[in-house]
Amino acid sequence: SARKKLVIGNWKMFKNATSASSDFSDFSNLIASQAHNIEVGIAAPSVFLADLVRKTQNSVTLYAQNSHWAPEGAFTGEVSAPMLKSMGVSGSLVAHSERRQMFGETNETAGARVGALIGAGMKAVLCVGETLEQREKGQLKEILKQQIEKAIQASGIKHASEILGADPLRPLLSIAYEPVWAIGTGKAATSVEAQEAHAFIREVLSNCFNKETSEKLKIIYGGSVKLNNIHEFISCPDVDGGLVGGASLVPKDFYDLCMKCC
Ligand code: G3H
Repeated sequence: SARKKLVIGNWKMFKNATSASSDFSDFSNLIASQAHNIEVGIAAPSVFLADLVRKTQNSVTLYAQNSHWAPEGAFTGEVSAPMLKSMGVSGSLVAHSERRQMFGETNETAGARVGALIGAGMKAVLCVGETLEQREKGQLKEILKQQIEKAIQASGIKHASEILGADPLRPLLSIAYEPVWAIGTGKAATSVEAQEAHAFIREVLSNCFNKETSEKLKIIYGGSVKLNNIHEFISCPDVDGGLVGGASLVPKDFYDLCMKCC
């Protein structure tokens, strides 16, 4: 497809100031050393971002793992989109399933976060996906439809032009499909399952915006993505890259994985 591949490493709550700094430098040096046609990002714990932003060499896009819906205010412990932007951070993950499961994230709060990021001209990667129970009950499509439609409604985004941004190859909104049962379990979805969900997500996006816009947006797969299965996923017509947890933690390994997407 015409969509540029997007691979984001999600460091979750791993590393310390020293290892985050050196791992990020090692990874961005490797990425900068190689000509490629993909977009590579790291979603790091926000406490490390100020340091990492100085080391990107423009080869790695920096993301936060979460950002608040308000620009500022009495929200102790939270970080806002304008704060991240002022540091040179490009965007944030939104509503990762771990936040949905453990920190009370809803489709409405997810949407509000997306709206704040896009409003600040930043990238938002909205994470969606069903639990095993929901899949077994045959609710996959219903859940994905709700997660996307409700979030887009709550985001206040009215026109497709708002999410497309200035660079046609890098829309501001992306979707990460992460079946909850595949996250950190070593049990990845099959490429057939991923393609089916991604094609459906594109259909939902087409209904929310329009077909042309849905064709431009990236839908990336997450859930036990590894060096040996990434190529199978990105070979699917509607899979535009990966959101990689465990396999993004060692710089050289993640670099090798990214190079499989070129
Ligand atoms: O954001 C990344 C996903 O939660 C996948 O994590 O690659 O460790 O399964 P994992």
